Amino acid sequence: MNPSEAYLGIDISTTAAKALLLDAAGRLIASASVAQELSQPQPGWSEQHPETWWNGVVGAIRKALQEGRVAGERIRAIGLTGQMHGLVLLDERGKVLRPAILWNDQRTAEQCEEMKRRIGAERLLQLSGNPALTGFTAPKILWVRQHEPEIYDQIAQVLLPKDYIRYRLSGEFATDLAGASGTSLLHVAARNWSEEICAALALPLSWLPPVHEGSEITGSVQAAAAAATGLRAGTPIVAGGGDQAAGAIGMGCVSPGTTGVTLGTSGVVFSPLAQYDAAAVSALAGRLHTFCHAAPGCWHYMGVMLSAAGSLQWYRDRLAPEVLYPALLAEAAQVPAGCEGLFFLPYLSGERTPHPDPSARGAFIGLATHHRRGHLTRAVLEGVAFGLRDCLALLEGADTASLLGELRISGGGARSPIWQQIVADILGQPLVNVNQAEAGAFGAALLAAVGVGRFPSVSAACDDWVTLGSSIQPSEDASRYAEIHPRYRELYPRLQDWFAGVPLNSPTT
Ligand code: XUL
Repeated sequence: MNPSEAYLGIDISTTAAKALLLDAAGRLIASASVAQELSQPQPGWSEQHPETWWNGVVGAIRKALQEGRVAGERIRAIGLTGQMHGLVLLDERGKVLRPAILWNDQRTAEQCEEMKRRIGAERLLQLSGNPALTGFTAPKILWVRQHEPEIYDQIAQVLLPKDYIRYRLSGEFATDLAGASGTSLLHVAARNWSEEICAALALPLSWLPPVHEGSEITGSVQAAAAAATGLRAGTPIVAGGGDQAAGAIGMGCVSPGTTGVTLGTSGVVFSPLAQYDAAAVSALAGRLHTFCHAAPGCWHYMGVMLSAAGSLQWYRDRLAPEVLYPALLAEAAQVPAGCEGLFFLPYLSGERTPHPDPSARGAFIGLATHHRRGHLTRAVLEGVAFGLRDCLALLEGADTASLLGELRISGGGARSPIWQQIVADILGQPLVNVNQAEAGAFGAALLAAVGVGRFPSVSAACDDWVTLGSSIQPSEDASRYAEIHPRYRELYPRLQDWFAGVPLNSPTT
């Protein structure tokens, strides 16, 4: 190991472009981020422009290099991660054709039905490991075919968000298997694109980039990108992984026995699998996602809530923009567990797990005159934690129960001690903190280190680099939450039909 070498992880999250610089021992040298806005041109739609990501990445890399006083030459390799499922369309000259349609966009219910008709629901599950889901990439391509034919006719390349950054950095088209699993176009067991799915959907395979294991080198920084960012031309770039898989690696969740809980914009429970079990996937009937892991040759199950820390961000931005998070959270800490009868359903962008329903909506239920703002804030924190509990219950029922093992927590929301405690209480299990605020970018940098031979395997790199922090034990509130969880569980089935009657595109209904 050369002590002066450094590794760079780049993360295109929904809220920011981030750059994380690590030294050869995996210690943080510097990190920088550039905030990004989300555009919602219609209710249920969610878009960002890839050019904004690129500008953000350039800014974040420059800032991190400057703050860490690191010359580009010291960086031995780069790993990429970012929001999954987003659709980036390029024409034959590599020009972006329209804003990217993101993971939490819900416009494609009709196209999911079309996928089931064309492929067969059971066959799609067998091949892609997952049912047709509105946030995934393939139905978005079908939506563009139906609604924007003039754009569809110009498509030459389909990319995921982080792979657009790869293209700008290296000029190469490539993706990783974990990210590709979220397109609905991958044969997840075979770890390659599914010719059968592409043929059934009449989508040319030539639009899709080559797929790679997370630690494989896909190209290197080209001269123009080096000039823009301060990186060295020729620095190798590995495939990396979708944010959840890279984040799991950053938490050391590579093999069965360590389960990741992430409180980011989305809320995720992530359980690694040593092999792909077709019978178990079929029995799950798509209630959990089954994806390739970014660790070579591994898979994972995961439950994904669309609005976790995103619910708290919505609540503060819309209802209390003048109040800082610590003040809001301090008010919530004064309120007893269970919020004296108030519940919050976090389905603000529809939901995926445990209710794959683009029509689902958020709700405060049980409001009474004794409720103050602290109750509303705490109800948001508890509602998200109940959603994570529902995801964990699905994992427990998926024959992996004995393999879930230790629960590790990370993500922006996990920086709040009160929210961590509520999650530990509602899950009814201890949570172990990971000493890493940016698990996704950290996991991407770790994959880069494996890719250039600093470690023989992802597991060996995790053993060396991932360090664990304090653990949070469930408190006496856990029994109160166990008592009221069934009341929360009742709410969605009771409201499901009512939600379905609220037209998605009508903000005034
Ligand atoms: C995972 C998912 C989200 C996004 C955004 O399936 O949709 O976690 O990757 O972070």
